[in-house]
Amino acid sequence: MASLQIQNLQVAVNDTLILKGVNLEIKAGEIHALMGPNGTGKSTLSEVIMGNPRYQIIGGNILFNGQDLTQMTVDERARSGLFLAMQYPPEVPGISNADFIHSALNARAQEKAVAVLPFLQDLQQQMQFLSIPEAYAERGLNADFSGGEKKRNEILQMLMLQPQLAILDEIDSGLDIDALQVVAKGINAMRSCQFSCLMVTHYQRLLNYVVPDVVHIMIDGKIVKTGGFQLAQELEQTGYEHLLKESNHE
Ligand SMILES: Nc1ncnc2c1ncn2[C@@H]1O[C@H](COP(=O)(O)OP(=O)(O)O)[C@@H](O)[C@H]1O
Ligand SMILES: [Mg+2]
Repeated sequence: MASLQIQNLQVAVNDTLILKGVNLEIKAGEIHALMGPNGTGKSTLSEVIMGNPRYQIIGGNILFNGQDLTQMTVDERARSGLFLAMQYPPEVPGISNADFIHSALNARAQEKAVAVLPFLQDLQQQMQFLSIPEAYAERGLNADFSGGEKKRNEILQMLMLQPQLAILDEIDSGLDIDALQVVAKGINAMRSCQFSCLMVTHYQRLLNYVVPDVVHIMIDGKIVKTGGFQLAQELEQTGYEHLLKESNHE
């Protein structure tokens, strides 16, 4: 059973404190949304969970299935079932999409190699499901992909890797309505009692298609509010302004 527990997490970048005591718990089977204005630390939290070394952990804990994540390499985190869709997915022209996903699966399977034929069949099926043209399997990883194509490709990787916990950082940014629906379809297809998800987003729009169990609002490196889906709907009406004012008065 996947569960993520973040306790009083403090993180700095280049000696500036960005996360100022984050508490968050995601249980197996839950989809959470993390919302907040730009520059608030949402991507910092995502990257730090995945183990990006640029971020220094100053205090607090991150536990995944009761294990201390901070002691694990990025590789170990991926193998233990963590997946991060980055806000800005990198382009790797030299490696094809299909090869990249196959290697990721092989890395996780360790000694037992993932058979090529069933892999390709599965890949083809998932690409059809996400309306990704077949030719994209052989193109360089994200090479010359549009913003929307990159996001769809991240979802393809998630469906192929079947992680226990996915962190999707701004998976909805720059998507037109058709692409948004495809991305949402992919996330909804993952829903199960063994899958947890943190959807990081600035906007409420995605949440109309993937209804989260819990919504958190982050302001200035802290989670200031947690609630149900209605919290996101309220935010759509009021914006972040009044929350920013409240947090400045503290
Ligand atoms: N790699 C980095 N180097 C320097 N500053 C960073 C880096 N990552 C984030 N920051 C700073 O941390 C703050 C939070 O950024 P970020 O986590 O990207 O916020 P969000 O995703 O909520 O927009 C910003 O002030 C940003 O400039
Ligand atoms: Mg961000």
